[in-house]
Amino acid sequence: MGEALVACAKCGGLLDVVYDWGRVGLPSSPAAFEARWSNRRDPLDASGVWRFRELLPFAPPEAVVTIGEGQTQLRSSSAVAEFVGLRPDRLFLQYEGLNPSGSFKDNGMTAAATHARMIGARLTACASTGNTSASLAVFGSTTGLFGTVVFVGSGKIAYGKLSQALDYGAVTLQIEGDFDDALIRVREVCEARNIYLCNSVNPFRLEGQKAIMYRVLEGLDWNPPDWIVVPGGNLGNSSAFGKAFAELKELGLIDRIPRMAVINATGANTLYRLYEQQGLRWNGGAVDAAAIERFYAQMDAEGRRAQTLASAIEINRPVNLLKCLRALETTDGAVRQVSDAEILDAKARVGAGGFGCEPASAAAVAGARLLVQEGLIARDERVVCILTGHALKDPQATVEYHSPGGAGTGARSSNRPRVVANDFDRIMEVLEEIG
Ligand code: F0G
Repeated sequence: MGEALVACAKCGGLLDVVYDWGRVGLPSSPAAFEARWSNRRDPLDASGVWRFRELLPFAPPEAVVTIGEGQTQLRSSSAVAEFVGLRPDRLFLQYEGLNPSGSFKDNGMTAAATHARMIGARLTACASTGNTSASLAVFGSTTGLFGTVVFVGSGKIAYGKLSQALDYGAVTLQIEGDFDDALIRVREVCEARNIYLCNSVNPFRLEGQKAIMYRVLEGLDWNPPDWIVVPGGNLGNSSAFGKAFAELKELGLIDRIPRMAVINATGANTLYRLYEQQGLRWNGGAVDAAAIERFYAQMDAEGRRAQTLASAIEINRPVNLLKCLRALETTDGAVRQVSDAEILDAKARVGAGGFGCEPASAAAVAGARLLVQEGLIARDERVVCILTGHALKDPQATVEYHSPGGAGTGARSSNRPRVVANDFDRIMEVLEEIG
């Protein structure tokens, strides 16, 4: 197969996909993308990624690998708006958990799988906190185009996700250590064996993930919201979103770029510390690399490792840090951290007021709430929170939260299961109690 490089051989910096837009025939209006959606028999038009194909024009149509990703919804939720502190019609949830593998990763994986096919890859791999592996595995199993090997940290993956990799037939390597360890190892192995790497270090992944923003804009009639709020782990999404907005603006498809807030878990807050506490900035590309080195050296010296119940974003060294800094500059962004307790309360509110999400996704909602409390987001601004993964990815977190003695104890969102005798009268009594 052809060689696929993800980083510059000289400086190690990640590569970017850049287009000569002058050679791309763009539709005259973004409404044309939506019109394609009704053409359901053409898999490219039905895909929530490829119906925007002119905005990621790297693949000939016959090379596209699609499994029907991106049929997701943007919905306004008054219940969650109330929790966040916004006017009832001002909060929107982008449900990326409705993708085939249950997370936003399918948006990026369709693009990576397409590129893998273009260069004739037979074997693909990734390291994962669970969702990337589930996504890669389902692309492998449904298309049969390539084998899949997934590296996961030991004991660091929610069962819903692990079960997917196993069920879809991926070779699953449980590596001693955490996600960061697994990512270093898989990059080494892929380079040595010329295996196609599908982590978000792969720039084509990010090309696909831009489509999440296209669909958000479409849901709002191409009238950009005031804020996009997204959880931050390896920072692939935030990087992709910034690139999407910069390109759309350049192409004249939007006239205003929303602000973006990236939300870390307090226990995995590298970006928050660097950006908000140390003032690290993109600086038009002149990033203070020494400051980042010092930060990681200190992290290692103190033996500090990421730890959060939101296992999807339990990451120490986000590989897309630089691209994310660029995206924060593009979007005049902000970074915040939220505790596991805040994440779980927000998750329960999303469950009670919507389709639910996994813990990492709820960080976006908890973060939006914090930003409203701070006054950085005004009550009548339009805010979109990206719900990155389905609630069933991590049912254990949900059941523990609602169980007696769980983290939800005393919270308004707690929904304790009631133990009741299998007896008609007792059941009627309980129903009387709830009115
Ligand atoms: N939310 C969910 C549900 C995730 O699975 C991830 C990342 C993120 C948020 C963070 O997104 O990396 O783009 O900042 N999961 C990766 C994985 C690391 O292996 O599945 P990011």
